[in-house]
Amino acid sequence: SPAKSYEFIETAEPRPGVGQITLNRPKALNALSTPLITELNQALAAYDAAPEIRAIVLTGSQKAFAAGADIKEMAPLTFSKAYTTSFIESWSAFTTSVKKPIIAAVSGHALGGGCELALMCDILYCTENANFGQPEIKLGTIPGAGGSQRLTRAIGKSRAMELILTGKNFSGKEAVEWGVAARAFGSWEELIEGSLKTAEAIAAHSKVAVMAAKEVVNKSQDLPLRDGVEYERRVFHSLFGSEDQKIGMKAFAEKKKAEWTDK
Ligand code: CAA
Repeated sequence: SPAKSYEFIETAEPRPGVGQITLNRPKALNALSTPLITELNQALAAYDAAPEIRAIVLTGSQKAFAAGADIKEMAPLTFSKAYTTSFIESWSAFTTSVKKPIIAAVSGHALGGGCELALMCDILYCTENANFGQPEIKLGTIPGAGGSQRLTRAIGKSRAMELILTGKNFSGKEAVEWGVAARAFGSWEELIEGSLKTAEAIAAHSKVAVMAAKEVVNKSQDLPLRDGVEYERRVFHSLFGSEDQKIGMKAFAEKKKAEWTDK
């Protein structure tokens, strides 16, 4: 059951079908330590397995979504230790293992690994003055949780180069203009309400169709266009095997509300 207690995160189910995970390491501005990431992965896996949960919202505090990987944990790391323990590999495990949509709700700092974590989610919402950036260059290193790849795909090479090579931050407003974020809200309250509303809207749809939609959109990030279009068509064809496709199309014809069976 998702009702488990954690040390570095909190979980709640604020709306029907919606699981909310809040990063909660306030004294370190939600720096992403290995124990925090372990808990995050556990909570995401629990929500993914919970039949009543249909969409997930991931957030931090008003002040910080996450200020990056834990610099104090990383400082003494050696190459051999990082390499042999596959340091940071587990961070992105959920991008392939979790099938339900995850909305990142970003307020305050989303720096380094915090920015990368937000980029791993399926929909990114933020406040207008959220503070994004990949400042690793200032620490004598580079992004290590996918930033050089996901940010570049989101905003293009020249802008990504500029940000990653200078360590310069960008705002929530810019995140929307550049296509990193889907929406920027004027306040923390609006961000949370907007994120929960979207999660609730997703949760009201057929679970089979929602999970298939997430799967095919994410394929677009990995596959060449022709392969991606073929993949989409295969999955589209497979949905004619679901009960919800029959229910949805019959309800449309009868001008009724579809009652999904998730089958
Ligand atoms: N790791 C560990 N601790 C961190 C942290 C981090 N990434 N970010 C902040 N903290 C800690 C601070 O050390 C401080 O702790 P103490 O009170 O014990 O000193 C506490 O959180 C509060 O931070 P500040 O006093 O610095 O708060 P501020 O409001 O003055 O500044 C900030 C906020 C601009 C975000 C600043 O904390 C900062 O620059 N943090 C580091 C950001 C960063 O470089 N992130 C990238 C990390 S590298 C990475 O993520 C690698 C990767 O690709 C995976």
